[in-house]
Amino acid sequence: MLIDTFGRTATDLRVSLTDRCNLRCTYCMPEEGLQWLAKPDLLTDDEIVRLVRIAVTQLGITEVRFTGGEPLLRPGLVGIVERCAQLEPRPRMSLTTNGIGLKRTAKALKAAGLDRVNVSLDTLRPDVFKTLTRRDRHKDVLEGLEAARDAGLTPVKVNTVLMPGLNDDEAPDLLAWAVENDYELRFIEQMPLDAQHGWKRDGMITAGDILESLRTRFELTEEGSTERGSAPAERWIVDGGPHRVGVIASVTRPFCSACDRTRLTADGQVRTCLFATEETDLRGALRAAPEDSTDGSDEAIARIWKLAMWGKKAGSGLDDPSFLQPERPMSAIGG
Ligand SMILES: C[S@@+](CC[C@H](N)C(=O)[O-])C[C@H]1O[C@@H](n2cnc3c(N)ncnc32)[C@H](O)[C@@H]1O
Repeated sequence: MLIDTFGRTATDLRVSLTDRCNLRCTYCMPEEGLQWLAKPDLLTDDEIVRLVRIAVTQLGITEVRFTGGEPLLRPGLVGIVERCAQLEPRPRMSLTTNGIGLKRTAKALKAAGLDRVNVSLDTLRPDVFKTLTRRDRHKDVLEGLEAARDAGLTPVKVNTVLMPGLNDDEAPDLLAWAVENDYELRFIEQMPLDAQHGWKRDGMITAGDILESLRTRFELTEEGSTERGSAPAERWIVDGGPHRVGVIASVTRPFCSACDRTRLTADGQVRTCLFATEETDLRGALRAAPEDSTDGSDEAIARIWKLAMWGKKAGSGLDDPSFLQPERPMSAIGG
């Protein structure tokens, strides 16, 4: 089990498959992109499957989320999902994606064993999408979403970040659209994880702002706290149900005390938190000794991972005046 010193147990593993992305969302990445990881530094498909196997068979991980960067850019994605689906016990598997290319791959991903997807979409307006992401791909995302729903990758969740002056007037329209299309919408507060360090606390749209805006058109009833569990989204029942809307208030109402996550970057570093400033190198351990040796065995790798979790902090530190943004941006950690 992955237990930290505050008694939390990690059962949810986020695996970044690449740090590259085909969008340039203004709150995430600069227009020119970033210095991408070199290919030899990336975990291979075999290494990823092995680490997921160790996580599932030795460390009590039950949920695996593939992310990035943009995970659909990883050529071996379907094969990785297929191999992880054969693990015993079989983890629940999902994908966080911008949806570009999902139209082509949704069925294959479902057949390989993927359970569901989270698709990121911040606006219903193609022109705003182009401004926000610096790419003209709005239609591809909408088509990807439909393909995911039609392939049964459900519930299809939609992740939305609201930015002041750009799309912050769209919350009710987005919710009406999500209800109509049977997507579960979740608003995420903008976090200080952009490579450009452009985040400003007083400029961000808060969970409170979002709920106020939604309530101009919808009746929202808070879901009981038992239903939330360790999920980061607080959820509200929309107009009496059955649809729900979530708000992930990572900044204004952090959920660190219930955190059940551990993260693996595309270059094989364990991070215990998005905001961690330390990482533990599993890639080095994997490559330093053969699998059938004492140092390179699954048990040895599992021990390193367990030790890494002991360094997990009580909270993200966002509310501390001495907060320092982590060196890696969201796209390189795996959002
Ligand atoms: C980093 S992306 C990676 C996966 C995939 N490319 C996608 O678009 O979903 C994961 C999520 O993080 C969100 N995100 C990126 N930067 C963020 C920030 N600074 N604050 C809050 N959410 C952010 C994105 O909007 C997206 O929903």
